[in-house]
Amino acid sequence: MTRESWQTRIGFILAAVGSAVGLGNLWRFPWMTSENGGAAFLLVYLGVVLLVGVPGLLAEFVIGRRSRRNPVGALSDLSNSKYWSAFGHVFVVTGVVLLSFYSVVGGWILRYFAESFTGAYFANPGAHFDAVSYGLDAVGFHLLFLGVTALVVLRGVRRGIEKATKLMMPAIVALLVALAAWGLTLDGAAEGVAFFLSPDVGFLRANFFDILPQAAGQALFTLSLGAGTMLTYASYLGEDRSLVADGTAIAVLNTLVGVLAGVVVFPILFALGSGAGAGGPGALFVSLAGAFAALPYGEVVGVVFFGVVLLAALSSSISMLEIPVSFLVDEYGVSRRRAVAGLLGVFAVTGSVCALDAGVFGVVAGPLVDLLLTGGLVGFLLFAGWVLGTAAVEELRRGAGSFAQSVATPWLYAVGVVIPVFLIFTFVSGLAGALGVAVGPLSLLGVTFDQTRVFLAVTVAVAVASFLGLRRSRSVL
Ligand code: PHE
Repeated sequence: MTRESWQTRIGFILAAVGSAVGLGNLWRFPWMTSENGGAAFLLVYLGVVLLVGVPGLLAEFVIGRRSRRNPVGALSDLSNSKYWSAFGHVFVVTGVVLLSFYSVVGGWILRYFAESFTGAYFANPGAHFDAVSYGLDAVGFHLLFLGVTALVVLRGVRRGIEKATKLMMPAIVALLVALAAWGLTLDGAAEGVAFFLSPDVGFLRANFFDILPQAAGQALFTLSLGAGTMLTYASYLGEDRSLVADGTAIAVLNTLVGVLAGVVVFPILFALGSGAGAGGPGALFVSLAGAFAALPYGEVVGVVFFGVVLLAALSSSISMLEIPVSFLVDEYGVSRRRAVAGLLGVFAVTGSVCALDAGVFGVVAGPLVDLLLTGGLVGFLLFAGWVLGTAAVEELRRGAGSFAQSVATPWLYAVGVVIPVFLIFTFVSGLAGALGVAVGPLSLLGVTFDQTRVFLAVTVAVAVASFLGLRRSRSVL
């Protein structure tokens, strides 16, 4: 059986953007931004996307295109090591964990989309959300959302994923632009835009190390990094293309949609006087939904808004389901149909657990996802840097223009050394922060120090040491 592939270049790009653009942009991003000082967060986040996100995306692309396999097959084929092969299985788990909570949120969105027609949540948005977010109703809508996801994946790479995302992406952007244009005409909108777009430098300085881990987590989640999704999508690339050009296009488009979402959400929140403070995970369903209730033609706005979010969520959830599907198809020769059917059974159960219990949902959607994505991406980066080495450089250069040719070697050092150090550092300090320990892993030991300097010094030292190490190791350069 020949392996599937994308039909067109734009088809691949739109599918990857479809995976990236999702609840991460429309639900998580405004919420993170509102909790972390607005524009200050945006600035740090943009830096992380550029310096960590794009190189990370390229690492997944390189491994995927080189191997033409799912994450498990890719790591084991390219390394011939049973340890890497075992590590690859983590990505099957990640796919399952991600979709389990994601389809619960997808179910909420589906419900709110339907209810916007009648304004069912208008009277009391807070109480309404509390009543419907967990329980049997939530299970039902989760199953519905999951079913639609499965229908697309069932039709395969070209006829399902590529076709669906090609229709969905332009629709999402057009509707968001329309919503933003309308939102900006509201009284008080300017204040929302200012909160979102003009950074408070003092705040940024004072809180940089609190913002950084949040921005890093958000960058990974929104770019679908560390899950093996982007690897899997790149494995369906049939011909030589510039991975650097495609990767950059994907990151830029995803960022634009995130920014556009902020330009929709913040003016509406500020115009209705709730301000950004009313954010949090329920922001979309409580503050924003409440704002729709207070607006003329609120039903229409609600339908359009939740319609956009629904499309975006679906184009991401199909990419999550595709990870374990490609694993079963590649490794066990199972037909796509049976793979989807079997997995549907698994997700029906795991998702329902998240839909029934807010506690489980909170752990899965928060720390567990962060841990899996960070760990997963660090694994891919080290794999590209240390196992593939020169082969990774060669793969990145295939089909690439002169700019990409020249950045390939510096890129390898970045992914082999600097970025893993950065990710581990920020993850640990984020964890310490969340546990209420004075920020920074070393302060766990009771040492107080200037974080910035130590951070820079450690990064530079490790970079130099590994530069020397990479030069000596045979596999690399
Ligand atoms: N990027 C998606 C979003 O923003 C989420 C996602 C994460 C999808 C990891 C696939 C893999 O909603």
